[in-house]
Amino acid sequence: MCGIVGYIGNRQACPVLVKGLHRLEYRGYDSAGVALINEKGELNVYKTRGKVQDLENYMESKDVSGTIGIAHTRWATHGEPNNVNAHPHCSNSENLAMIHNGIIENYAVLREMLSRKGYTFKSSTDTEVLVQFIDYIRTTNKLSLPQAVQQALSQVVGAYAIAVIEKNNPNQIVAARKGSPLVIGVGEDEYFLASDATPIVEYTQKVVYVGEEEVVVINRGEELTVRTIANVEKTPEVKTIELSLSELEKGGYPHFMLKEIFEQPRTLANSMKGRVSLDKKHVVLSGFTNNKEKFLGARRIIILACGTSWHAGLIGKYMLEEFARIPVEVEYASEFRYRKPVIYPDDVVVAISQSGETADTLAAVELAKSNGAFIFGICNVVGASIPRNTDSGCYTHVGPEIGVASTKAFTAQVTVLTLLALCIAKEKKTIEEEAYLEIISELAEIPRKMEMILKNNDEIATLSRVFTYAQNFIYLGRGYNYPVALEGALKLKEISYIHAEGYPAAEMKHGPIALITSEMPVVVIATHAGMYEKVISNIQEIKARKGRVISIVTKGDKTVKKMSDFCIEIPETVECLVPLLASVPLQLLAYHIAVQKCCDVDQPRNLAKSVTVE
Ligand code: F6R
Repeated sequence: MCGIVGYIGNRQACPVLVKGLHRLEYRGYDSAGVALINEKGELNVYKTRGKVQDLENYMESKDVSGTIGIAHTRWATHGEPNNVNAHPHCSNSENLAMIHNGIIENYAVLREMLSRKGYTFKSSTDTEVLVQFIDYIRTTNKLSLPQAVQQALSQVVGAYAIAVIEKNNPNQIVAARKGSPLVIGVGEDEYFLASDATPIVEYTQKVVYVGEEEVVVINRGEELTVRTIANVEKTPEVKTIELSLSELEKGGYPHFMLKEIFEQPRTLANSMKGRVSLDKKHVVLSGFTNNKEKFLGARRIIILACGTSWHAGLIGKYMLEEFARIPVEVEYASEFRYRKPVIYPDDVVVAISQSGETADTLAAVELAKSNGAFIFGICNVVGASIPRNTDSGCYTHVGPEIGVASTKAFTAQVTVLTLLALCIAKEKKTIEEEAYLEIISELAEIPRKMEMILKNNDEIATLSRVFTYAQNFIYLGRGYNYPVALEGALKLKEISYIHAEGYPAAEMKHGPIALITSEMPVVVIATHAGMYEKVISNIQEIKARKGRVISIVTKGDKTVKKMSDFCIEIPETVECLVPLLASVPLQLLAYHIAVQKCCDVDQPRNLAKSVTVE
């Protein structure tokens, strides 16, 4: 949800900022802008509706000189995406320019107060209110900019990562955060700031993660100074990040999404590295080993997540209940946080989040934590807010996921959940040794089997042409394949804008079957492992009503193949691991349909990668 970048140093700031915006564009892409202070101390602000490329075009003939600047790529919350609502926003005095990621909840009250004091507003944004409020406090109380930011933020309710610069002061950026991520890159005589490390990594590996409610003063050529909003001095902790530039590029693929789908055999192996023993005889998860008693004493497990991560959680539930015999509830974090849930101190909460920044998941984690539950995080982005708020956990280690539609993070989440279920089950002795060993050796085979599925890419691309103009889709699966159906439908709708619903196959006859006509494509996951015979009956019900069936079957299957209009084969594996394989052709199907429809696959409309607002 919005990406922010800042630079101060010896380079020209604009190219650094624009490149940074491109890297952060996955976070929001409805408008973009830059503010720069040139040698004369003038503050130049350029912003436009559209993508970062539109901003670049707009700035072609403008004065973009200056070695200090801030920039923003937006995902609209307050006010439609247009030139006026784009960031940076300025104070009426045009002395201050500010960028912001987050939501100021009490902005209406502040706006009213400022209006009474004579301030006028050009935009409908909460950000313009905040920058004017900082200006008001600065001028009324005759404070320095850092002091004014501190005082203003102490009266603000909401979430923010902000950066402010001031006309005639080319030597200072003031930044702060609460609830939204902010990273400072520390270079030689230069500093970078950004919503995540991706714009920073090509200049420096040294970063400081700004803490909750901290205000950072970045003075040219000086050490960083950090104070909390309540004015407690902090020592910035410089960390080294491990992120390579190649992970941030498309590497020859037309889209990040396709690259990330194809990366899965490798990323899956990475998620298991050091966790599944080389002799394939046992699984070790340090996050589990160090907190064994919490899991063994758990009354139940509550999984908290949103979207695709929630689907992974559902698969996790099936595994944890089957193998570890612990009751599991899978909750939408957005519902959990507001519905006064019953949380026991002996509950274990598993929070799943690719970004580690999803506002609802973070708030749900905080709620569970304040009720005494033990929190275990499964996240991808190292050092993000959710892993920093958990008691323990493990990273999925798939590298940056840049395509807005989650693919490799999903399969990695399912992998880590499998490992967790196996660890608990082994310790509780609720799994037969034979089943335990079989799952481990099958897990080790999954990357190779995924490679086999990826070889069908061209075939799936051809199949996708048949459905380019479909208006609706239904996805069906049972047992472990039910969450796969939900995930397949979500992938299709988010990137191709085709309406798609996932159902447990047996639920069809309780209502949705009324939708079946010869116009309705129905994707059925009908693998040998996973209630095969029952799913065959469900397919017959669809065929009897002339629905068009695209089936995902186990290699060599003849029965379902004969009944289907189209069929995609996947290699055989144990039932609980079928989702890892079955989701790959569904990702490819959604991808190719979206490409056929000329949709913006990596940056679908209305979406953003990291949902840091509720
Ligand atoms: C769909 C997708 C979203 C995310 C959801 C949670 O492809 O990516 O549904 O899964 O917004 O995000 P994280 O996992 O970052 O908490």
